[in-house]
Amino acid sequence: MCGINGVVGLKNISEVLFQGIRNLEYRGYDSCGVALMNKSNLMVQKNTGGVEEFFRKGNILATKGKIGIAHTRWATHGTVTRDNTHPFTSCDGAFALVHNGIISNYRFLRDGLIGEGHVFRSETDTEVIPHLLEKYYKKHKSVEKALVKTLNILEGTFAIAMISTHHPDQIFCARRESPLMLGIGDELKFVGSDFNAFIDYTKNAIIMEDDEYAILSRDSYVVKNFLTQEEIVKPITKIEWDSETAKKSGYPHYMLKEIYEQPQTINTALELDSNLMNEVVDMIDVSDKAYFVGVGSTFYVAKFSEYLFSSLTDSFIPAVSSDEFALLAKVDSKSLVLTLSQSGETFDTISALKFAKSKGAMTAAVVNVMGSSISRLVDKVILQGSGPEICVISTKAAFAQMIILTILALKLSLKRKKIKRREYDSSITALRELPEVIQNILNERSGFIHRIANNYSKVKNWLYLGRGIYYPVALESALKMKEVAYVHAEGMPGGFLKHGTLAMIDQDVNSIVFIPPRSDKKLYESTIHSVEEIRARSGFVLGVHFDEGSKNRDLFSEEIILPNVKPIVAPFVQLVIGQLLAYFTAISLKRNVDKPRSLAKSVTVG
Ligand code: F6R
Repeated sequence: MCGINGVVGLKNISEVLFQGIRNLEYRGYDSCGVALMNKSNLMVQKNTGGVEEFFRKGNILATKGKIGIAHTRWATHGTVTRDNTHPFTSCDGAFALVHNGIISNYRFLRDGLIGEGHVFRSETDTEVIPHLLEKYYKKHKSVEKALVKTLNILEGTFAIAMISTHHPDQIFCARRESPLMLGIGDELKFVGSDFNAFIDYTKNAIIMEDDEYAILSRDSYVVKNFLTQEEIVKPITKIEWDSETAKKSGYPHYMLKEIYEQPQTINTALELDSNLMNEVVDMIDVSDKAYFVGVGSTFYVAKFSEYLFSSLTDSFIPAVSSDEFALLAKVDSKSLVLTLSQSGETFDTISALKFAKSKGAMTAAVVNVMGSSISRLVDKVILQGSGPEICVISTKAAFAQMIILTILALKLSLKRKKIKRREYDSSITALRELPEVIQNILNERSGFIHRIANNYSKVKNWLYLGRGIYYPVALESALKMKEVAYVHAEGMPGGFLKHGTLAMIDQDVNSIVFIPPRSDKKLYESTIHSVEEIRARSGFVLGVHFDEGSKNRDLFSEEIILPNVKPIVAPFVQLVIGQLLAYFTAISLKRNVDKPRSLAKSVTVG
């Protein structure tokens, strides 16, 4: 949602602070601010706009400091203005603070503080925190005591980093339900929303847990619980990703780079610890009731899994959007809730998990970010190892999750004797061959798809249609188009058309239909029937199909023809086409591909 970062060192750290907050910009990018301190001289600068623009225009790097905190914002409380930008300071200017999360009792606290004479300059929930720190510092004459008192009063979710003129060489930070990590370098100590904040400087991380706070100085740190004030000895986690993999490597955008990394994510998924995979399969097997839970793209991963498990394992495991889970699902100690999350920090999915746990349910997750909240909350976690996904829009992470769920479904199917070993082996072989198929499509068809995207980039409305497992493919592809190109795209099952939507078919509404291979005869024919329904009303259909050299071509207004593959991997090939169409349409419309409007990499608020 927002990115926070702090650095303390011996020499000037303004450049280090800039690198760190720039690496976190994918978490939010509507405004940016820093507080830097040299001796007891505290300097705060902030403005609307992205990180680079803010640092350049404000000439921030010219300001020297041995300690500093920074913030990149994705507005939740208060509009995008300079006044609402972090850091916030106390009335006496002794405390500067950045925050990610939502303080739910801020109105009550704010009214009380105003009554005591504090002056507020923003509309945010965050601003109560520095004022509370000032108030309790006056009483206790200790920054640590003031912090502990304040943290115990706050309700809601928070990750904070704070510096104070009372301790010019220390950073104070704390977390409750919002992600926060420490970076432990030899000469520099860091705090960050995630390890991208400090990955260029150290791979030694400490993952902060709920209700913990830390005090960092250049050559030491201490972590304590703010409910008990007990000191906690924290293990150091070695970050496995390197900063190079998090760079663009010559691609114009991270989105394209990450689409091209998908073949590799398939190989990684196939190499995952098979004991761990079997344990998750066993959990599904023994549960009375199971759910797949995710939101946004990961809800579509869940939906994809719902179809997979129905057809392969003969059990219906509903997909539920995380934000609706507590309103809909019935869970008890025999239920399994399998959550999907790229970031592992999504508020709605964490809430669904907490609800499930409060009912005693078993929990598991497929997550990309190690050390993330969801990965630590569940009974069993599969870390997908897809590498950093920097583009705000998820491509390779969601894609890899679908591969992992396919492997789980095949394993369960074999275990339940729904398929024979031969069929299992041939499906795994098809998955092993998939990286090459996708690589060839990326190498050979991207130019063609780029031209199609250019030709139709002015189309304002698209229907994305698919049947069976191609329905979630249509949903996910439509979401990609909406979020990166800002073009209206509605995903729908093909069979839905005749129940009303056909009325929309005219020259202003184009359709894209994801067609299964002919070998999936029934599904193929019913999908072609949807195409015919649209064509009968002179509607435009872009058919994405596997019919190399077939006679159906005059059925489509435009077509993307794919190499014939086994039905088990065909939806993945279609997904890549959906991603490329969205990417190239966004390029054609000159959108901000890696940082589209109104989306953040980890949506840590509800
Ligand atoms: C889509 C997208 C979002 C996320 C959703 C869940 O491209 O980025 O829809 O999929 O916010 O995020 P995670 O997977 O981090 O839980």
